[in-house]
Amino acid sequence: MKFNKIDKILEKFNMQKSQLISILQDIQNEFNFLPMEVLGYVAEKLGIPFSLVYHLATFYKTFSLKRRGRHLINVCLGTACHIRGGVRILEKIERDLNIKSGSITLDSKFSLEVVRCVGCCSLAPVIRIDDDTHGRLTQGKITPMLKKYE
Ligand code: FES
Repeated sequence: MKFNKIDKILEKFNMQKSQLISILQDIQNEFNFLPMEVLGYVAEKLGIPFSLVYHLATFYKTFSLKRRGRHLINVCLGTACHIRGGVRILEKIERDLNIKSGSITLDSKFSLEVVRCVGCCSLAPVIRIDDDTHGRLTQGKITPMLKKYE
């Protein structure tokens, strides 16, 4: 992997250790995930322990060590969503995208993950796509909704 993009991000933050979270955020925005070799590179360049970088990268839910698609779909299968058909919503998305939950589409457009209660139970069944919450879903609403993110 070439690290010149990482060098630019480090320079943007003047190689400040105190800016580590912002640095990781920029790297995440660049790659859609935090590659392990990049974490090691950042630790080396900033002169800090790898364990510290790894700790932050795994502590915050916004960061991912797994490659992610451009859009992250979280299907809620908490109790309320499960009772109101969340599994059928998940199955429809899996069919539309031709992937299983926990994976990423071939074109890297979407990642699909199952989560527990996203805090909007009254709207069940609910999914989140990036920062958008979609509730009271039916299978019929899924295909047009996904098209909006393509
Ligand atoms: S169970 Fe799905 S939002 Fe609460």
